[in-house]
Amino acid sequence: MNPVDIAEPMHSRWSPSVFDDAHQLTDAEITRLLEAAQWAPSSGNRQPWRYVVAPRGSAAHAVLVPHLSRGNSGWVPRASVVFLSAVVLGTDGDELKDLLIPAHDVGQASAHLTLQAEAMGLKAHQFGGFDHAAVAAGLGLPDDARLIAGIAVGVRGNPADVPERDAERDHRVRDRRPLADTVYDDRWGHAWPGLAPSGPATAPAERS
Ligand SMILES: Cc1cc2nc3c(=O)[nH]c(=O)nc-3n(C[C@H](O)[C@H](O)[C@H](O)COP(=O)(O)O)c2cc1C
Repeated sequence: MNPVDIAEPMHSRWSPSVFDDAHQLTDAEITRLLEAAQWAPSSGNRQPWRYVVAPRGSAAHAVLVPHLSRGNSGWVPRASVVFLSAVVLGTDGDELKDLLIPAHDVGQASAHLTLQAEAMGLKAHQFGGFDHAAVAAGLGLPDDARLIAGIAVGVRGNPADVPERDAERDHRVRDRRPLADTVYDDRWGHAWPGLAPSGPATAPAERS
């Protein structure tokens, strides 16, 4: 149960670290998730996102897994599929264009994918902890593409099947900075005075 009154599937979304390593997604389900990303808005409709699809056991999965950070190496490989997001940069002559807006667009597409997963009864957990250069080399990324993040998708598994460290993460209290520290009026850093009282910025440990 999350504290704030926001719409589904944002309300129920959270990032689990215990996935069921027997669950598989069909190609149709994976395609549906990618369609959610495909229909995200983007600057100039340039759609600078690319996704590498790495179902558990696939060749792309085998490229990624050895390069996961220690903290991610236990839980990420158990997910049914990992999507690796990448941005493709346009060029200005020989110069690669600025990353800011394209990276924003990829993040937004990944948010759509993540929320589509939640709406399909799945769970998603994004991660940046992997050796980007090694994975990019292993996947043959061209010079104008940059890997950004992974999105592990699947269904929740049994906490008893994973190391204590991963099981424990799913019971950490989720928290957020208060809106007043984030939302400003015409003076940077000065809270927008229209903020209505909102729910607590922490969520209790028990979650669906
Ligand atoms: C770009 C990005 C990178 C992240 N990297 C990691 C990571 O390497 N390992 C991890 O366990 N979680 C990672 N996370 C998940 C965040 O820690 C998590 O979203 C945050 O703590 C908020 O929790 P919630 O998603 O349950 O609301 C990442 C999330 C994003 C969006």
